[in-house]
Amino acid sequence: MKNVLVTGGCGFIGSNFVQFVLSQLKDCRLVNLDKLTYAGNLKNLVEIEDDPCYRFVQGDICDADLVNQLFADEQIDTVVHFAAESHVDRSISGPAAFIQTNIGGTFTLLEAARNAWNGSFEGKRFLHVSTDEVYGSLGDTGLFTETTAYDPRSPYSASKASSDHLVSAYYHTYGLPTLMTNCSNNYGPYHFPEKLIPLIINNALNGKDLPVYGDGKNVRDWLYVKDHCAAILAVLQKGEVGQTYNVGGNNEKQNIEIVQSICDILDQKVGLLPSGESRRSLIKFVTDRPGHDRRYAIDASKIKNQLGWEPSVTFEEGILMTVDWYLANPEWVASVVDGSYREYYQQQYGEEV
Ligand code: NAD
Ligand code: TYD
Repeated sequence: MKNVLVTGGCGFIGSNFVQFVLSQLKDCRLVNLDKLTYAGNLKNLVEIEDDPCYRFVQGDICDADLVNQLFADEQIDTVVHFAAESHVDRSISGPAAFIQTNIGGTFTLLEAARNAWNGSFEGKRFLHVSTDEVYGSLGDTGLFTETTAYDPRSPYSASKASSDHLVSAYYHTYGLPTLMTNCSNNYGPYHFPEKLIPLIINNALNGKDLPVYGDGKNVRDWLYVKDHCAAILAVLQKGEVGQTYNVGGNNEKQNIEIVQSICDILDQKVGLLPSGESRRSLIKFVTDRPGHDRRYAIDASKIKNQLGWEPSVTFEEGILMTVDWYLANPEWVASVVDGSYREYYQQQYGEEV
């Protein structure tokens, strides 16, 4: 792991990962290839942008010439592939970009690795970062394991499932040294405020409605983003090629519980609303997301037993750190909640943010 190509390193998890790796490893070089879509932000990495072990390249993972050139110029031996269109609601209103980036972009990277490494796979690794959403929706009981059959329900999860199948095919067909992680919902610093937790923090701070889809009883298994980064590094360093590792927080919560706990934390930290009411009074149940998966929950025993990874941060600790980060970084939020976000919000929620 000397010359690492990180794709999507300016997004939420990618930027946490770049910072995490540079703080942990001294002898590797990171090349971050990111298109800087609405979800990518150079401000996420200002603290390390001058690090001699780091290089940023603005570009598209679907651009085969660029990707091939990077493999050659940088002698890439490791790929950590985050770049994707990642928001389910956007995949419902506009699926094309998901097909292009998530499937086409992954294909381009796999082909570039196959051509550059040309059968010489010693010391090479291609880690594909995926999601638990490929497994579909659980009922009240049960957990997703690495052998659960794929059953994606949204254009987002279907595009991620397709990319997972391509990765697996390149391992079986060409012997490409692939690894895969399927992780549950992340939360933490630099999370774009279209996703539930940062959206609720931002709206609750500004006294805006807190939109909860359906009955609010859909369940997600939340993991603090730095724990996900540690899991990815563990898989890179100790994982067995060709294997998939499920990563989760052992922390199932209904959406309504998440929203209520953020309201309570903010009431305590910044005071009640000017009306004297709790922020819980801002909760508004809105029309459900079409095809809304009811419950996700991960069995993470394989990565724990085989690689010794487990979450280090409880949800109670993680959500406090996250709220504190958003309170301390209002200028970051202001910079990402720009014109295009306002337009998206108006379309998605039928009101101004
Ligand atoms: P994100 O949307 O915050 O960031 C995606 C990044 O990819 C952005 O920086 C964007 O500019 C970049 N990008 C998009 N299209 C690109 C292209 N064509 N070429 C180059 N760069 C491009 O996403 P995230 O939440 O950080 O998720 C990262 C990865 O982790 C995704 O593959 C996602 O499926 C997976 N994942 C996310 C979660 C989660 O809870 N957020 C959970 C499990 C897995
Ligand atoms: P999200 O953060 O979009 O992640 P995902 O759909 O990938 O799990 O949503 C998390 C949960 O919160 C999901 O059940 C949908 C719900 N949700 C709301 O209730 N209101 C919202 O405004 C958003 C964005 C999500």
